[in-house]
Amino acid sequence: MRSGSLPRLKGFDHTIAFLHDGYEFVSRRCDRLNSDAFLARLMLQKVVCARGEDAAQLFYEGGRFTRRGAMPPTTMRLLQDLGSVQQLDGAAHRHRKAMFVRLLMGADAEQQITELFRGEWRNAAKEWSSRPSIVLFDQANVILTKTICRWMQIPASKPYAELANEFSSMIENSGSAGFAVILALIRRRSTERYFERLVRSIREGTAIVATDSPLAYVVNYRDMDGSLLSERSAAVELINILRATVAIGRFVIFVAMALEQQPKWKEKLHSADDAAYEHFAEEVRRLYPFFPVIGGRAIESFEWRGHEFDCGDWFILDLYGTNHFRRLFPEPHQFNPARRLAWRTQGYDFIPQGGGDSRTDHRCPGEQITVGIMREACRLLVEDMQYELPEQDLTLSLHEIPARPRSGVVLSNIRLNI
Ligand code: HEM
Repeated sequence: MRSGSLPRLKGFDHTIAFLHDGYEFVSRRCDRLNSDAFLARLMLQKVVCARGEDAAQLFYEGGRFTRRGAMPPTTMRLLQDLGSVQQLDGAAHRHRKAMFVRLLMGADAEQQITELFRGEWRNAAKEWSSRPSIVLFDQANVILTKTICRWMQIPASKPYAELANEFSSMIENSGSAGFAVILALIRRRSTERYFERLVRSIREGTAIVATDSPLAYVVNYRDMDGSLLSERSAAVELINILRATVAIGRFVIFVAMALEQQPKWKEKLHSADDAAYEHFAEEVRRLYPFFPVIGGRAIESFEWRGHEFDCGDWFILDLYGTNHFRRLFPEPHQFNPARRLAWRTQGYDFIPQGGGDSRTDHRCPGEQITVGIMREACRLLVEDMQYELPEQDLTLSLHEIPARPRSGVVLSNIRLNI
C-alpha cells in the first residue's frame, strides 16, 4: 500500500475506536475528514476504509478483492467458514455461486418459502394467544428454522428449537470476542459434524431424500473439476443457507419495531399489495443496523482515487454507512418507504447485503427470500394479528455488533384474525 491522496487517521491504531463506535466508525470519520475514504490501522494492520457508491463498485466489480484473510477469523468461522462460496474467487466462485443462485433466486423458491413461512407463523400464533406474552425474536428464529428445513427437506432428526439455537448462536456471537465465542465455535463445529454425517449418509444411500429436493441438489452439486463438494464444504454450504435464513429473524423484529414506531405507515399498509409491503421491508433493511462492514484483500495491484493498492492490501467497505449516506439518501435517518428501494436494481448504493450483481459478484444471493419473508412477516403483523407491545427497552445500540433490542421485542395480548 503506497500513500496517495487519501487522508490518514491520526493515532497509531484505531481498533478501540472501531469497537467503541461500531456501526458508525467509518462514516463518523469520513464526515470529520470530509472524505469518503481514509487510511487507518485496525488490529495493527493498515486498512483503507470507505463508503459510498464508488467504493462499493470498486469492491464488487471486477473481482479485485478476495474475502480470504479479510475478516477476523472468528467472525469468518461463525458466519461463512472455510470451504464456503464466500472464500472462493474468480471462476471457482462463479461456479459455486451458481448453485445458490439456481436454488434461491427464482420466483418458485420465493413463493414456496414464503408460503411455508406464513403457515408456520399462523400455526405458532394460535398457541401465542394462550400465553400472556412472547419474545418475537425467539419465536421468529424457530419459525424460520422450521420453514427453511422443511423447504430444503432436511430430515427432522433434531428438534427445530435446538437447531434454531445453534444457528442463532453463530449470528449473535459473530461480532464478539472471549469465552462466548469459543463456546459458539465449539457448538458450530458440532453442527457442522451433524450436517457432514447427513451428507455422508445421503451419498451412501442410508438416508433417503427426494432427488429433486434442495437438500439433494446441494449434496450432489459438483465443483468445477467435476468432483462432489467435500463433506465439509457441502455441510458448510447447507449451514450457509439454513443459518442465513434464521438470521432474517433479526429483520423480522426490526419490521415489528418499525410498525410500532411508524403508526402512519402501519395504517397505510392495511390490504396493500406486495409492492407496498416490499418498499416497507426494503426501508427497514436500509435503516436498521445488521452487517456493519465487509472486508476484502486486494488480489492485484491497481490505483483508486490516486491511491496505489498492492496485492494483499486490506479494504473495508462501510455497508451501514453507505445505506445512511446523505448524498445517496436524503434525510438518511428518516424512515421513508416512499424511497421505493429494491434489491432488484443490483446497484452499489443500497447495499445492506452487499452490492453489484448477485449472480456473479459476492453480493448475497439470499436477498429475494429475505425481502419476501420480511414482506410476509409485515403482512402477518398488520393484517393477520392483533397484539400489543408492553413497556420494554427497544433501544438499538450502534456500539454492539450485531445490534438488537435487549427485549427481543415482546408482544402481548395476541389474537389471530381468522
Ligand atoms: C438475514 C439477512 C441477511 C443479511 C444481512 C446478509 C448479508 C450478507 C452479506 C453482507 C454478504 C457478504 C457479501 C460479500 O462478501 O461481499 C452475504 C453473502 C452471502 N449470503 Fe447473505 N445475508 C442475509 C441473508 C441470506 C440468506 C437468506 C441466504 C441464503 C439462504 C444468504 C446466503 C449468503 C451467501 C451464500 C453469501 C456468500 C455469497 C458470495 O460470496 O458470493 N444470506 N450476505
